[in-house]
Amino acid sequence: MPIMSWKEAYSVGIAEIDQQHRRLIDLINSLHDAMSKGQAKAVLGKILGDLASYCANHFATEEKLFDTHGYPEGPDHKEKHRKMTSKVLALQQQFEQGKATITLDVMEFLQQWLDKHILGTDKKYGPFLNGKGVR
Ligand SMILES: [Fe+2]
Ligand SMILES: [Fe+2]
Repeated sequence: MPIMSWKEAYSVGIAEIDQQHRRLIDLINSLHDAMSKGQAKAVLGKILGDLASYCANHFATEEKLFDTHGYPEGPDHKEKHRKMTSKVLALQQQFEQGKATITLDVMEFLQQWLDKHILGTDKKYGPFLNGKGVR
C-alpha cells in the first residue's frame, strides 16, 4: 500500500514542478514498498540513491526558478533544501555502511517532510512565479 498519494492540494500551479513532486512521491512509495516486502539491501540502496539524486535535481530546478525571478523567500527556502539534502545524504551513507536500515520511522520522516514542505513552503512560490509568467 502506498505511504503517500498525490492530491490536488499539492499542486503549485507549475506543470514541471508538479510532475517532479509526483515522481518524488513515487520514489518514496517504491522505497516503502521495497521495505515492506523485505527486499534485499541492494534493492533498497538503489531506490534510496535514486531518491537522493532526484531530490537534488528537483531542489536545483526550484532554486533556479527562485534565482531567475528574484523570489524574495528564496534564501530561506534554499536553507530548508540544504538541511533536507544533508539528512538524506547522511541516511544514504549510514545505510551503505550498514549503520542504518530503512524502517517505518524513516519512511514516515520522508513522507511527512515532503508533505509539509510542499504544502507549507513550496506552495508559497506558486502565486509569485505564476505572476512572473511561470506555469
Ligand atoms: Fe518541491
Ligand atoms: Fe522546495
